[in-house]
Amino acid sequence: MRPSFFHHLHPPTIPTEQARWRHTLGAGGTAVFLMLILGMTGILEMFYYIPTPEEAALSVQTITYHVPFGGFIRNLHYWSAQLLLIVSAVHLLRVVFTAAYKSPRRFNYLLGLALFILAILLDFTGYILRWDVDICYPLLTGTNLLKTVPFIGDFLHRLAIGGGEACTNGLLRMYVWHIFGLTLPVIILGIWHAFRVRRDGGIAVPPPQVRTDNARISRNELVRREVLAMFIVGIALILLSIFVPAPIAAAMTEGTTLAGEAKAPWFFLWVQEMLKWGDPFIFGILLPLGILALIALIPYIFPKPADSDIGKWFPKSNRLAQITIGLVSFIVILLTLLANAN
Ligand code: HEM
Repeated sequence: MRPSFFHHLHPPTIPTEQARWRHTLGAGGTAVFLMLILGMTGILEMFYYIPTPEEAALSVQTITYHVPFGGFIRNLHYWSAQLLLIVSAVHLLRVVFTAAYKSPRRFNYLLGLALFILAILLDFTGYILRWDVDICYPLLTGTNLLKTVPFIGDFLHRLAIGGGEACTNGLLRMYVWHIFGLTLPVIILGIWHAFRVRRDGGIAVPPPQVRTDNARISRNELVRREVLAMFIVGIALILLSIFVPAPIAAAMTEGTTLAGEAKAPWFFLWVQEMLKWGDPFIFGILLPLGILALIALIPYIFPKPADSDIGKWFPKSNRLAQITIGLVSFIVILLTLLANAN
């Protein structure tokens, strides 16, 4: 048989420990599955979505209420995108809490983090494509934040929305970023990330001499587990999409641009809460970037986990990294809840 990318990801056998739910939580694989659903449902939505300020919101209404199964496909796209952010965050926590980021996986940790950031930006640009009254406030706030960056603020603003007023001119750029400018890097980084997992020796597990179980599972068993996970996540997604519709509001027309909710989408509520503290550049750009840099540097500046601790849950030798990521998560969740309550 000719070796293929599939065989690279699924060797004839792998240590059983690498494929345990309680070890990986299935989070990385679920993120891949959600990305595939997003790609397929996104292509279907493109057949009806019209990226012009006059018709965008109406075309979303057409998809939701008139196209056969359009509402269901749109809900699948929406829920896959929200779940992707949650599942990626769980995957990131799993990687840190099992010390799986240690060399040789340091670079792949950065690739994963880049994927996570792209997924957040894709969620944001997708949210803007609704072009209804609720999207103007976050679009305006987000793009005005870009303007506050010293020296290159205007350039970033033009790069994001092409210049002019965000809520009148910004749609086409958001569309191109969503469909092409962010999606293409996600595809490339996604394939690279998956390739590197195997290249770095597969999922990080304790070395054979300290492992409690040295059994191996076959490729067929690995695929069986993957299909089972896809089946369970697929059913959950379908149920969610049948019973909980994606948000939709009245179309934006001249004079109604700021008539909607003055709220960021849920994944940026924590930044919105910090903006209340003062200078928008410091609290809306520098602080979030600082937090991101801290997470990115975990494998590089924190004490190195012991080799015998790699792949163990909450090992002693990487306590500082665990406390850091735990604190960051706690603060982000707390700020999100505070912003939501106000
Ligand atoms: C957002 C989309 C992401 C996708 C689709 C993805 C996909 C995957 C997959 C399929 C695996 C192997 C299975 C598993 O560990 O569950 C994996 C492993 C890994 N991922 Fe991700 N990942 C993503 C985000 C991240 C993030 C945010 C990070 C960390 C910053 C990260 C770092 C890693 C590392 C270091 C490994 C190897 C783990 C190990 O050997 O135990 N990934 N990823």
